[in-house]
Amino acid sequence: MRCVAFASGRGSNVAKLIEAGQAGELSGATVTGLLVNRPNCGALDHAKAASIDHRVVDHTAYGSRVAFEDALLHDLAPMEPDLIILAGFMRILTPHFLDRSPAPIINLHPALLPAFPGAHAIEDAFEAKVRISGCSTHLVTADLDAGPVLMQGAVPLKVTDTLDTFRQRMQSMEYRVLPATIAALARGDLSVDAQGVAAQPGFDAYLSE
Ligand code: GAR
Repeated sequence: MRCVAFASGRGSNVAKLIEAGQAGELSGATVTGLLVNRPNCGALDHAKAASIDHRVVDHTAYGSRVAFEDALLHDLAPMEPDLIILAGFMRILTPHFLDRSPAPIINLHPALLPAFPGAHAIEDAFEAKVRISGCSTHLVTADLDAGPVLMQGAVPLKVTDTLDTFRQRMQSMEYRVLPATIAALARGDLSVDAQGVAAQPGFDAYLSE
């Protein structure tokens, strides 16, 4: 399964996925390409270091979302993805892109959706003093952070947690949930189609600390 990751920032999840694929831990899936929208983001360095096909589509260079998304589609096509993985990609993809995408798109989000959608999910959960949060992988649809859930990983918010310690444990869980999701899709334990997401009976689609 050829996976193309989209990222905007540090790219630590992209790095973990690249490593897991190269170590044969993704049930045959590998990251074969990376698209980023920020020219100097850390994610690029990980793709370069691993000699993975990478392109920059700088959203600030385009006058409209449609033009930006057409450029993404143009650079994505030769990568021939079976799956697109949003791993810290901080641009909203509109139906223009979704309707033309060559492959299903999944997203990693740092909260137990449908709780805490949006760009500040870890801070929002911390400030709300929830007892438990976590991370989710889900199918991307036109509604922000609202597509069908693939997997979730639970992370308790301890009374002794600071925002930093909570964030670190959330990240550790993300490093497990995203690879586990890709591997499950590659094996067929999880599948996506026009109806949404299906899980094989007996497949455990959640992780805990
Ligand atoms: C991750 O925590 C991911 O869940 C989040 O961005 C971070 C990227 O970290 N994504 C979102 O908030 C999307 N709404 P990374 O660049 O180190 O992989």
